[in-house]
Amino acid sequence: MKNRKMPSSVERVMEEEDLIISKTDTRGIITYGNRAFIAFSGYSEKELLGSQHNIIRHPDMPRGVFKFLWDVIQDRRECFAYVKNMAKDGSFYWVFAHVTPTFDSKGNIVGYFSARRKPASHAVAIMGELYQSMLAAESRVAAQDACNASLDLLMKVLSDKGTSYEEFIFTL
Ligand SMILES: Cc1cc2nc3c(=O)[nH]c(=O)nc-3n(C[C@H](O)[C@H](O)[C@H](O)COP(=O)(O)O)c2cc1C
Repeated sequence: MKNRKMPSSVERVMEEEDLIISKTDTRGIITYGNRAFIAFSGYSEKELLGSQHNIIRHPDMPRGVFKFLWDVIQDRRECFAYVKNMAKDGSFYWVFAHVTPTFDSKGNIVGYFSARRKPASHAVAIMGELYQSMLAAESRVAAQDACNASLDLLMKVLSDKGTSYEEFIFTL
């Protein structure tokens, strides 16, 4: 289902009280979505459950961001990220996501959980620009080097600012 629709310039804006929740298995297959998740995505619950989470991936998102996200959560840590998503009709919506691993009683990862809030508009403006430059860095190299190229750029931006990823994300 990925990339069948064209992205449009129509934005859906989250409200302060909105909380978008989804859960996945260990491979990123959607196992749960709350009402807000279903409403913002524009897909039915039936279409979402069992689909890869990239069903709402927006082409403006650099691949490096998702590599970073997966590296962190597979390392059993939580990850915060600004994400531009694409709804079924091609419209887009920005979220501030908190993604965490879920463990069983033996400490094995059994899936992942993401809770998303409305992002501050000035943070979206900064992250939108940063993601554009990461995307440009990806387009300048061969596909297999794209993630590293955009992550190198992200790390350079952070080191130039003398900050860590987490610190940067929370001081926007
Ligand atoms: C719990 C969880 C939530 C996720 N939420 C999103 C999301 O909202 N939007 C998105 O594009 N990718 C999300 N992802 C990442 C996707 O699994 C996937 O890595 C990403 O869409 C890039 O897909 P691709 O590499 O197939 O292009 C999430 C992953 C997990 C584990």
